[in-house]
Formats: sequence, structure tokens, C-alpha cells
Amino acid sequence: MRYNLNMRILGIETSCDETAVSLIEADGSFGTDFRFTSLGNALSSQSAIHEKYGGVFPNVAKGEHAKNLVPMLTLCLKNAGAMRERYGDISPYRDKLRKLLEREPELFEQLLPFLEAHGNPDVDAIAVTAGPGLEPCLWVGVNFAKALSLAWGIPIVAVNHLEGHIVMSMMDIRGTTTEHSDILQNVGVSGKLHDIGFPVLSLLISGGNTQLVLSRAPLQYEVIGRTRDDAAGEAFDKVARMLSLPYPGGPHISRLADMARQSSEVGPHWMKLPRPMLYEENMDFSFSGLKTAVLRIVEAQKTLSDDTKKAIAREFEDAVTDVLVGKTLRAVEEYGIHTVVTGGGVSANEYIRETLRDRLRVAGCQLLVCPPEFSTDNALMIALAGYFHANADEYADVSLLRAEGALSLS
Ligand code: KG4
Repeated sequence: MRYNLNMRILGIETSCDETAVSLIEADGSFGTDFRFTSLGNALSSQSAIHEKYGGVFPNVAKGEHAKNLVPMLTLCLKNAGAMRERYGDISPYRDKLRKLLEREPELFEQLLPFLEAHGNPDVDAIAVTAGPGLEPCLWVGVNFAKALSLAWGIPIVAVNHLEGHIVMSMMDIRGTTTEHSDILQNVGVSGKLHDIGFPVLSLLISGGNTQLVLSRAPLQYEVIGRTRDDAAGEAFDKVARMLSLPYPGGPHISRLADMARQSSEVGPHWMKLPRPMLYEENMDFSFSGLKTAVLRIVEAQKTLSDDTKKAIAREFEDAVTDVLVGKTLRAVEEYGIHTVVTGGGVSANEYIRETLRDRLRVAGCQLLVCPPEFSTDNALMIALAGYFHANADEYADVSLLRAEGALSLS
């Protein structure tokens, strides 16, 4: 059933260790008339696989994306009721498809029978993450999008992953029903844009990026601050590893930090970690020294008791929060901001969210942040950002489309 909305976009995300496919139906421009409905959304996380490496191992991740894309596409289209059961004739494209996917033979072997068994779904365009991220992983998604574009005869929008996080966090989301299992599926999510006054400041905090981005107008971005070394999420993951906590470490550190805050016995008073670059007159970040300071504390312990781990986790989370909040407030003041958006995996952190919200409120600023399951990587955000570009006729030239690991927002 069509919802009287005007465009269906299929989003594909493979920039790190999540293989995700999402189908949305959307209408309107970037403003109060915009509406979307998520018709299908399927995401397979590889975190259990990468746990033993303590981080994402790019070549393993690439292989997993190649294995998971067709199953996620199938699930997404089935959820959406968008699967067409007639037989498609792909013989004219077989050789071209083989060539496009020559580096992903396993993906080709799955895609070919899929395309032979199903007709073209009711989709207007494909939005795919072109960067930034792990380049071998990005290429799998980009080549998959090119293959679908060829077989289905529809255009591609190349999406910047970070724009996806920003646009997602600007959404006022309704009716989230989530089934948690190995594969995350959301059914019946819909939404519109929050009432946003520009300029907007975005704090992007994930495993690969830590940036402050200024938007003077919708869909325009100027990076005004970035990390000079580790990303915030990377620091969470590395500190978690020092404390023998599983990957990804952010939620585990956060849990221990909360326990420490609730216990009068586990104070951080006996240790003090640095707040790197907090008082420097710029919008940049650095987390590598903080991570090394934790390492020194850990190495100085004969054994790491549970209470010591909790105290370290708390002081570390406090230090990261102080720096993120401090730098955001500096930018708010300098650019006269009234709306701050935060996105990326670390923005799922309750303590960081709440501290940021409270401090911004005092500064007369609203904080927009999406439900935690959409703060981490997903394909809904890629479909949403892709929709706005499709709506403006900004399609990629498929022959020139490349994955770009270091793609920047400005
Ligand atoms: O955005 P994301 O899903 O992937 C990319 O890096 O692109 O972010 C993953 C990162 C990981 O470093 C993970 O440890 C961190 O987000 N993370 C958290 C929390 N949940 C995820 N960090 C702190 N607290 C959390 N609750």
C-alpha cells in the first residue's frame, strides 16, 4: 500500500561492522512538510565476530558484508511487502554484474539467484554510504548498489555517512517497535523533522569520527572541529580492552561508570585523568593522551579489582564528557547556536546525553538526539539523507562513483 507519499528510497550501509538495508517512503522538502515511514529495516551486527580482535578487522568485516547483504535486502523487502515474486530476466546484465562484483564473488553468487527469482521492487532510488569508513567495507556496499541500480534500472545517491547521522538526529521519530536479536528489525517507524532554526551545530561522536559541524542552512556542512588522533568511541573501546571488557566497549564502560556513581565507596577521588585540549581556544579534540593516562593507571595496579575498574570507568567517562560538553559549549557561544544535534554510536551514552542536555539548556539551547538504536550505524539514516538529495535530483554518476574512506563533510 502506498501512503500517499512520493518517493521510495532503499538505503544501504556497510561503512564499518553493521550490514544494514532500509526502505523508506518519504515526501516533502527539508522543512515542516517532510514526512517519512520506514517500510522495512534490517541490520546485522558483526560485533560478536570482531570481539576477539578488540576492534573491527577490515578484511573480516568486508567478507561479512558480502555474506550478509542479500539476506538483509531480502528481509528488508519482505518486511516492507515490496518483494515482487515474478521471475526477472537478468540475462542481458549477467556479465556486467559479474564484472561489477568480481571482487565479491560470494555476493555475486547470492545476488544472481535473488535477481532471477524476483522482479524489480517498487523503489525509486538507492542511497548508499560512499564514505567515510573502512574502505574495503564501503566498496562492498557501493558495488552492491551499482549492481542493483543496473538490474533494476534506478539511480543511486551517494551519501556521506556523517550526514546520515546528522539528518537522523534531526528526526522526530514515532512508533518505534524494535525486535532485538542477532538481526535488528524495526517495523512501523515513522517521523518528521523537528522544528529547527539554523545555524545548527552537530556533535558527531562515533568509533571512527569525532567532529563538530556547523550547518548555516539545511544540508550544508562546515567542519569546525575534529579529533587530532583517536575518535571518542575508539578511546572507549581501547580503555574497555585495558579493563578486559568486551567489544564494543562503550556500553560496558558506561555501565561500570554508573555503578561507581551509585556507590559511595567507589569514588574517582584517588585518580584524576586529564581533560585534553579542554581549555585550548579551538574546537578540536584529542583522546589519545587520555587513553595513555588510563594505561599508566592500569599498569600501576598489581591486580585490577572490580571497584578499581568501576572507578577508572567513571573517571574516564567524566573526562570524555567534560571535553565533549566543554568544546560544544565553546562552539555554541562562538556561533550563536540555539539547536545542537548529536549522533554517532557514542551519543547512545546516557550520561553524555543527559549532561550535554542539561548544560545546553542552561545556555538556552535545545539538544536533538535520536533513540539509541538509531544513534549507532543503521541504514534508515542513509535512506533519509539520500531522500533529500534524490528530491533535489542530486544523483551519482554511477561510472564515477567510488568508495572514499576519508570522505569529508566539507
Ligand atoms: O556510530 P557507530 O555505531 O559506528 C561507527 O563508528 O561508525 O559507533 C560505534 C562506537 C563504538 O566505539 C562504541 O563503543 C560506541 O560507539 N558506543 C558507545 C556507547 N554505545 C556505543 N560509547 C559510549 N557509550 C555508549 N553507550
